Amino acid sequence: MAVLKILKGNIIYTATKEKFEIHEDSYLIESDGLVKGIFKEIPKEYKNVEVEDFGDSLIIPGFVDMHFHAPQFQNLGLGLDEELMPWLNKYTFPEEAKYGDEEYAKRLYTNVAKALWRNGTTRVVLFSTIHKNGTDVLMDVIDKSGIGAYIGKINMDRNSPDFYIEDTDESLKVTEEWILDTKDKYKLIKPIITPSFVPACTEKLMKGLSDLSKKYNVKIQSHLSENEGEIEWVKDLHPEYNSYASVYDGMGLLNDNTVMAHTVHSTDEEIKLLAERGTVSAHCPNGNYNLSSGIMPVRRFLESGVKVALGSDVGAGHQVGIYKVMSQAIEASKMNRVYVNREEKPLTTSEVFYLGTKAGGEFFGKVGSFEKGYEFDALVINDDNLGDKDFRCVEERLQRFIYIGDDRNIVRRYIAGKEVGEPK
Ligand code: GUN
Ligand code: FE
Repeated sequence: MAVLKILKGNIIYTATKEKFEIHEDSYLIESDGLVKGIFKEIPKEYKNVEVEDFGDSLIIPGFVDMHFHAPQFQNLGLGLDEELMPWLNKYTFPEEAKYGDEEYAKRLYTNVAKALWRNGTTRVVLFSTIHKNGTDVLMDVIDKSGIGAYIGKINMDRNSPDFYIEDTDESLKVTEEWILDTKDKYKLIKPIITPSFVPACTEKLMKGLSDLSKKYNVKIQSHLSENEGEIEWVKDLHPEYNSYASVYDGMGLLNDNTVMAHTVHSTDEEIKLLAERGTVSAHCPNGNYNLSSGIMPVRRFLESGVKVALGSDVGAGHQVGIYKVMSQAIEASKMNRVYVNREEKPLTTSEVFYLGTKAGGEFFGKVGSFEKGYEFDALVINDDNLGDKDFRCVEERLQRFIYIGDDRNIVRRYIAGKEVGEPK
């Protein structure tokens, strides 16, 4: 087995959500793209391997973003005085409609790759747009960056503007062609089936997408119970179902290959269904705040056995860094306790770190931890400018980075064992 890398520094990660694992001044060894182990002394057999010594810096797993709309990066920070539906109509759809233009797509998607790279996002689940050609451009751009991703061509065939809508049969046909073209094309990039959300997809489209997911074993992403008006609309469209989640379930789209963004207003019944199906919920506190959607009660989901991970929700979310989303998730959980339910304890730093690394990483395989056999996704954090390090322990320094750090503190990025430089 080839030993390729040894990094030295203060290693910190979460194998479980309850606590940090900390190895001060230790060696993290990579072999064949995987974590070989963490050692206080370099084992004899690796003595002649060169060490990348990062001194007093922190070494942490790469961040995993479970919900990011690539074409909305261009809208970052715009239109957030609106709620979901007017925001989609005024800002989102007009921008997304442009990405059938491959030159435009390449230019704007390159900005996305750079922003993900800068912020230490090593794995990401992306929405593109309804365009197959634009989605191919996004897949090529992200592949070249070295970042691992599930990337979805959006499907939508009802209740959408006439400049941004598909014909049902054509949508299914193009999606199948796109899956066949891309499912084995890249090493770290895979297609993901992406019905926009229930109000914009007919029953025929959703059932057809479920069939494609089963036929080719492709994962699924969508939106669920984000905004109260949206939920009422789903009730009107599907009175035969008793919850929003049960519509997806009835269409064959809710299983352990699925990630659903938001789940802000899920009922106990809906939460139970998500737990039973093994569906991942992507918690997107920034988007939930910006569009006045509400506060997701994460503690209740975790205690009910739902898999929860974190999403930036760019462009409803205004921050790319998952470390920023971590602190927002803690703040949301504190307000949930004060204003909604005194019984639900706020999230802790180790819990949100776990959600933004290992919990999201599970969607990608063995990703998001430094346990032996995990894919070697790592970041080196230099926190020299965040305060005097001598008076703070490693866990406090990580906490400080999560709250007050930014992309300038991230000085190296490794994905599946490879150091990745800034995308061109
Ligand atoms: N629901 C349907 N489309 C979208 C979108 O683009 N962003 C968010 N946050 N919710 C949606
Ligand atoms: Fe979204």
